[in-house]
Parts: sequence; structure tokens; C-alpha cells
Amino acid sequence: MTLYSPAPNTTKTDDSIWASIAREEERQELQLELIASENHASAEVMAAMGTALTNKYAEGYPGRRYYGGCEFVDEVEDLARNRARELFGSERANVQPHSGTQANMAAFMSMLDPGDKVLAMSLDHGGHLSHGHTKNFSGVFYDFHSYGVEPDSERLDLDKVREQALALRPKLLIAGASAYSRPIDFEAFAAIAREVDALFMVDMAHIAGLVAGGAHASPIPHADVVTLTTHKTLRGPRGGMILCPKERIVKINSALFPGGQGGPLMHVIAAKAIAFREAQQDSFKTYAAQVVANASALAEGLVGAGIRIVSGGTDNHVMLVDVGSVGLSGAAAEDALHRVNITCNKNLIPFDKRPPMEASGVRLGTAAITTRGLDVADMGHLAGWIGEILRAPEDEATIKRVAGAVAELTSRKPIYA
Ligand SMILES: Cc1ncc(COP(=O)(O)O)c(C=O)c1O
Repeated sequence: MTLYSPAPNTTKTDDSIWASIAREEERQELQLELIASENHASAEVMAAMGTALTNKYAEGYPGRRYYGGCEFVDEVEDLARNRARELFGSERANVQPHSGTQANMAAFMSMLDPGDKVLAMSLDHGGHLSHGHTKNFSGVFYDFHSYGVEPDSERLDLDKVREQALALRPKLLIAGASAYSRPIDFEAFAAIAREVDALFMVDMAHIAGLVAGGAHASPIPHADVVTLTTHKTLRGPRGGMILCPKERIVKINSALFPGGQGGPLMHVIAAKAIAFREAQQDSFKTYAAQVVANASALAEGLVGAGIRIVSGGTDNHVMLVDVGSVGLSGAAAEDALHRVNITCNKNLIPFDKRPPMEASGVRLGTAAITTRGLDVADMGHLAGWIGEILRAPEDEATIKRVAGAVAELTSRKPIYA
């Protein structure tokens, strides 16, 4: 097995930590990664993070820093910003957020005062913690209200969202989710925001790579502010980003620094720039289309195996599998799949009666397995294996057979060949 070993010529003396890193690299090679928010960044993206750029303090923005010696990191940040703008067709970009949550914090600070009303997707129906969870800064500082999916279709009904917006009159309307498998109509959301005189923000953390690769409509023409993470479908380093029209960038920049962060992580910004260049290639369009084709094939295979998928299927990279339909909790299903080296996470399904640590669903995504080269034919096998394990989670013969099949597939399709 070829493992990725960062900075291969480095003398490594810290045996304990390098041994753990090696074990984690091996785990990634041996397991099929179905966690929808994860991906396998390229070796070049990872190499940029192991460079001297990590040493540099660069508070401020290119050309206006609070530290000397920033001439080369300015080049890096300018490249990252320009590539981000080109990739998404956005007037301005801030590439400094350390994470998606930090990006959201800056976006909110640039548009809201504490206590302002916000309407966003319910966390229980697929929204994100930073969209108003009571223990998250968002729920602590702002007055969040939520919309959700319909009980019968398990999809958003924008007429209902409009009714809620008309009644609430929020200052900000947010679209975007962590576990929603259907296309989001950003134009229709923007029209609702305009009608109620609200600002409109899209958090495209999950689908950013699909948007970049043309496999999901872009929110850029419709939103006042767009936030995202760079490490999910976009396949870059762990981090966040904010895109906006030029008239908003001054407020966004100062809300991020000094508002919510100190010095930017220049080594990560270099890695973001590399990932944006990768995402500009035609091969990334092919990748994004394959992610969606794989998700659709996996969902169809699971339905064929008699397992219910929330809303009946998927149009993007993610699906919520109702494992209650085969008598399991999400936690039990996650454990059972882990035993055969299929990694995923338990997840609430809409109107779930179980608590979050148990849940009735698992969330599956195809971004990472598509990166390692799995195709639609592989999805047929994978759906079959998942079905077998979920129906007989304790059966040793089934576990052995499926684990063997997963091992054969992962060794045939390595990540860092
Ligand atoms: C919709 C959405 N927004 C924001 C985030 C936060 O990203 P991070 O974990 O980098 O803070 C996530 C992460 O899963 C997400 O799904």
C-alpha cells in the first residue's frame, strides 16, 4: 500500500505522533469513506500545508498587513483570492476563514446586530449548528428561527418558507444545509428575501465542489453573501471562505479580521489556492458529475435493497438513509458498517423520534469514494454490501465476506497511488 507521507525527506524523531499519523493514513486507505463532509485532498494540497508558510504572521490583508515580511504570502493570498473569484464567478473573496463556522460568524457580524432575527433551515431537518443551535454562537447572539422539510415529501416547500418569512420578517434569510439531498432553488429563496426586505445568505459548505464543477446551480448571482468550506466536495484543505459582491467586502473583511479571527493560516491559504486551481480543470467537472452519478446509483441500489432513503433519493452528493426502516438505530448502523470498513455517521432524519446520539438515520456521501476512483458499477456492489450488513449486523459470516469484498476494492482503488 502506498501511503502519503508529508515531507518525505524530513527527519522524523517524534515516533509516537508519526506512528499515529501513519495509522490514520492506513485507515483512510483501508476504509471506504462515506462521511459526506469529508474528502481526500491531493498530495499537492497536503504538501502546501507542510511548508514554512505556517511560520508567518500576516494579520490584515495583502498590501495592508500589521507585520513585515509579507511580500510572498501576499502573492499567495492574492492568487488564492483571484482563483476563488474566477472559479465561482464572484466579485470578491475572503480566503482567510479557518473554518466554515468562522466564515459564518464573519458573515453574520457583517450583516446583523446582536438579537436580530434570522430564518434558516432547522438543524433537525438537515441544517447546521452554526445556523442557530442554542449552544452555538449563532443561537446565543442572534434570534434564529427555522424552516424545515414537509412531512410527506421530506423536501423544502418554498411557499411554506415564504409564509414563514412573511410572518417573521427576518433581517437575514439563509439557505444551505449539511444533510439535504435535493437541489436548492437559490433564485426563489432570493425572491422571498427581497419580498420581506431581508438579506440573503447561502451557506454552500457541502455543495461548493458541485457548484464549482457545474453539478449544482450557483448561488452567486442571487445571494448577498455566500459562505463555504473548502474541504468537503471542493476537495481542498480544511478551511472556510466567503464570497460576496464588491460593495460588501469591506464589512466582511473587518468582520473576519479583527472581528472574529487573528492571523490567517497562510500555509492553508496556499493549499486553498492549489485546490482552486485543481477545481478549475475540466477533470474536476468530470469529478463533480461522477460524485452525483455515484450518489444517485448508491441511493437507487439501497432502495432496491429495500432500505428507505429520505425523500426517496438524491440529486447531489449526499443521502439520508432511514435505517429505522430495517429496525436499526443510526448509531447501531454506523457501528455495524464500521466493522466492515465502511465509514459513515449517524444522523437525525426529519421528524426523528430518537435523540441525536442514537438517531434513526445514517448520512452517506460519495465525494471521497469518487476521488479514489469508484464508479457507478462499484456503487451497485456497495449498496448490496450495505444492505447485507444492515440486515444482518451480527452475522459473522456476512461480516467476514463483506469485509473481504471491501478490502479487495480498497486495494484495487488506492487513494494516494
Ligand atoms: C452547511 C455547513 N455550514 C458550515 C459548516 C461548518 O464547517 P466547519 O466544520 O469547517 O466549521 C458545515 C460543516 O459540516 C456545514 O455542513
